[in-house]
Amino acid sequence: MEVGEQAKELIKLVSTKDKMSNTKFITVASGKGGVGKTNFAVNFAYILSNLYGKKVLLVDADMGMANVHIIVNVDTKKTLKDILSGADIEDVIFTTRSIDILPGFSGIDMLEEVEESSVLRLVQSLDDISSRYDYIIIDTGAGIDNRIVSFIKASSKTYIITTPEPTAIIDAYALMKSVKKIFGYSEFKLVVNMVKNKNEGYETYEKLKNSAKKFLDIDLSLIGILPNTKNMKKSVKSKQLLAEVYPLDEFVKELKMTASIELGEPPPTEKTKFWEKVVNFLRRE
Ligand SMILES: Nc1ncnc2c1ncn2[C@@H]1O[C@H](COP(=O)(O)OP(=O)(O)OP(=O)(O)O)[C@@H](O)[C@H]1O
Ligand SMILES: [Mg+2]
Repeated sequence: MEVGEQAKELIKLVSTKDKMSNTKFITVASGKGGVGKTNFAVNFAYILSNLYGKKVLLVDADMGMANVHIIVNVDTKKTLKDILSGADIEDVIFTTRSIDILPGFSGIDMLEEVEESSVLRLVQSLDDISSRYDYIIIDTGAGIDNRIVSFIKASSKTYIITTPEPTAIIDAYALMKSVKKIFGYSEFKLVVNMVKNKNEGYETYEKLKNSAKKFLDIDLSLIGILPNTKNMKKSVKSKQLLAEVYPLDEFVKELKMTASIELGEPPPTEKTKFWEKVVNFLRRE
């Protein structure tokens, strides 16, 4: 896997800028597909912006299979594809629920051509506007390819999402191994999603942490254990955000913990909790 010199330069530029500015770039990645990256990214962005008042840009970088705009239920006129054809990033970003979103595109027609140039152009455009944001969260597609690895390198940290399934764990390990091989170190944080109980989450983390340390010399830290919740399907089906319509759901509660750890700030206040209870009560089935 080769990343062109020009791309490397840009990535270096973003990494350096990121260290100097307060904007944090987080890439959300996984080895295996369907582990919950997109739903995590959208709800996490919602919590960071609506509960913690952070300025967040969510980028749908799942090229060819974009679905962030579907989850937030907004029709998009322009997408990331337009940026690749020269459109101004400002004209593509839309705002919903206080989150700025850069929507992706679906369809494989351009996928071959966008390989490296897409990452280049996108990283440059993101770099230009990064100072406006506290967080730029990049949702990627499943698997390991140049584009995803480049986003990881351009980010200050990478959240690896896995489930307790052995296949997901093995693929998460393979992703870390590839990144390490291509770029050396990257700060990885693990989110274990769709757990039956906390124990299952800790066991999954232990397995990955030990292998990452032993074979890759990577220190993997844990940033979240998120339960399987039936409210996820309900909210996706009704095109609403879980964190918005079920603020007291266990998944949302744990996601707030993840946000707290990320920010190094205490969870929202009692006052907020009271209003959440009221909202939840009013929205009960
Ligand atoms: N904690 C959870 N509890 C229950 N269902 C979940 C949970 N997290 C995700 N899901 C469901 O799993 C499915 C896949 O989620 P999502 O699209 O977020 O995964 P993904 O990793 O982004 O997939 P892809 O690799 O295709 O981009 C969705 O139907 C979603 O509703
Ligand atoms: Mg996805």
